[in-house]
Amino acid sequence: MRVKGREYRTIWPKDGKVAIIDQTRLPHEFALVMVETLAEAAAAIRDMKVRGAPLIGVAAAYGLALAMQADPSDAGIERASAALLATRPTAVNLRWALAMMREHLLPLAPAARPAAAFARAAELAEADVALCAAIGDHGLALIRKIAAAKQGPVNILTHCNAGWLCAVDWGTATAPIYKAHAAGIGLHVFVDETRPRNQGASLTAWELLQEGIPHQVIVDNAGGHLMQHGGIDLVIVGTDRTTATGDVCNKIGTYLKALAAHDNGVPFYVAAPSPSIDFSLSDGIKEIPIEERAASEVTEISGVAEDGRIARVRLTPQGSDAANPGFDVTPARLVTGLITERGMIKADRAALAAAFPERAAQTP
Ligand code: MRU
Repeated sequence: MRVKGREYRTIWPKDGKVAIIDQTRLPHEFALVMVETLAEAAAAIRDMKVRGAPLIGVAAAYGLALAMQADPSDAGIERASAALLATRPTAVNLRWALAMMREHLLPLAPAARPAAAFARAAELAEADVALCAAIGDHGLALIRKIAAAKQGPVNILTHCNAGWLCAVDWGTATAPIYKAHAAGIGLHVFVDETRPRNQGASLTAWELLQEGIPHQVIVDNAGGHLMQHGGIDLVIVGTDRTTATGDVCNKIGTYLKALAAHDNGVPFYVAAPSPSIDFSLSDGIKEIPIEERAASEVTEISGVAEDGRIARVRLTPQGSDAANPGFDVTPARLVTGLITERGMIKADRAALAAAFPERAAQTP
């Protein structure tokens, strides 16, 4: 997608290194960073310079490629995979991408592994772009239908950043939005700020601004009110891990939006590329590991001060602790549909197994 009119992706290889956009500095600074080693790749994921489930997977794949330049042995593959897997627990794409890489690399001679790893990581990146583009096409059909049945713009609520910054390009929840905008359909996007890290206010709003899509940032608590007054036609969110039964784990606060949508008859869709589906799990609430992040993400906030400097300030009384679960689970019964690369499907075991028989068959 575009940044100041120029096309970018979120990650790309360059001269045996990997270029990324440092997302911790957005929206106030657009900075590219070169990642050169396994340790730097793991830190970039852990510190959320790169983030979002699909991008975490591709970044881990490139991290493994960087590791192969230093130690292409079998033990090197295992060590690097373990280090990358430990960075963030909830998004299943990380595990999926590392499994793809290991399956490809282990049969090869060590000398062939560095080049093969970069090539395989690039394939996973291209595949991610194709998955998101396909989700965009299926979501466009949905938005077109809603637009045809009403006057004025289609009002869409989204949570966190499931935009192109969470993937390699297009994004998951935003792909239908970008495609609908390109097709000339009038849209208005309500962007949940998504405390504590504000991925909506910082990243989704920035993306939509770059693409010229009408939007407003709202506080996380405003969605229910807007729905009660007919202000939202549909909700589209992303997912970090969806179970074989259609339970959806996504950024903290998603569940409350799903409850409000259900209460108000607003359709609640989840853009779910297949690498985000964990066919080994049946109960999202009991089985998905939820990342607990630093209390300082809740007790402090950063922004641009009047003098233009980026400042970090405390919000809470000194001495108050904070809990910070990073994700929650929306039960399948609250999900209107999953927008996958193979079309819109019901959030249940039978529909998921029918749409992805080759993945469902691998389930233990
Ligand atoms: O903690 P993050 O920023 O990596 O969280 C991931 C997300 O951005 C969202 O949960 C998103 O909706 C899923 S990624 C498609």
